[in-house]
Amino acid sequence: MNVIRKSRVTFRPVKPLIGAVVEADREALFDPEVVAQCRDMLEERTVLVMPQVHFTNEEQLAFTDLLGGRLNLTSEATTNKDEDVYQVTLDRKINRAPEYVLGTFFWHMDGMPMEMPPPLATLLSARRLAPKGGQTEFANSFAAYEQMPEAQRAEIEDLRIIHSVAASLRSIADAIPEAEKGKLAIGVEKERPLVQLHKNGRKSLIVGSTADRIVGMELAYGRAYIARLNEWATQPDFVYQHQWQAGDFVIWSNTGALHRVVPYARDSGRMMHRTSIAG
Ligand SMILES: [Fe+2]
Repeated sequence: MNVIRKSRVTFRPVKPLIGAVVEADREALFDPEVVAQCRDMLEERTVLVMPQVHFTNEEQLAFTDLLGGRLNLTSEATTNKDEDVYQVTLDRKINRAPEYVLGTFFWHMDGMPMEMPPPLATLLSARRLAPKGGQTEFANSFAAYEQMPEAQRAEIEDLRIIHSVAASLRSIADAIPEAEKGKLAIGVEKERPLVQLHKNGRKSLIVGSTADRIVGMELAYGRAYIARLNEWATQPDFVYQHQWQAGDFVIWSNTGALHRVVPYARDSGRMMHRTSIAG
């Protein structure tokens, strides 16, 4: 992609296959026409970066509402008064279920095991950074589908995957205290197609740590198959790593990108504010 200049906003590509930086005056970000251009570009580039915009919760919610229908994914988990803003932190005093946040150390898409259309987009503001770690990584899952050999695309086209909370927590399950397990929706799962067709006609792979097993496939075979799909989908050319500065605002297509965070310490103080858009 080349640099795209509109009247009030410029989109500058980050890497050939993923990401664009949004350059605009702060107030232009609340112009519905600019927001619509951002929405188109989101499907095109999967990740949009707005450096140093320092949104308040109110501004983040206003932008979220302009971009699409606001979705409250996990309000009961945090102690925030702006209940549509989820505080991403490992601090148990603020987030009652930090195990979900530990789960974000692994490649995933939000909301996959839940009984609803997967969220369309996720929006994240950096409030406090960790001294070490905490970068967010994104992998373009349109590219993962489109760059696959044709024979493999045909092989996976009709596969269906069971996504489960248990799968997303499997690699940290033995680190979760027994007393906390009841708060986590461990038994929740949802069957979804592996290949998702988007409104723009493109298809993306729906995989990640929530992908538990493949319908109709022997368990071990299916898990190995999923592991290989995850490796394929997160190869370096498809990935952008965002090095946060406080005040940065990043939006990504939840079903067009896998995401994860570089591990950071529980006492790091890292705090991100997340909003979501319904699918
Ligand atoms: Fe996430």
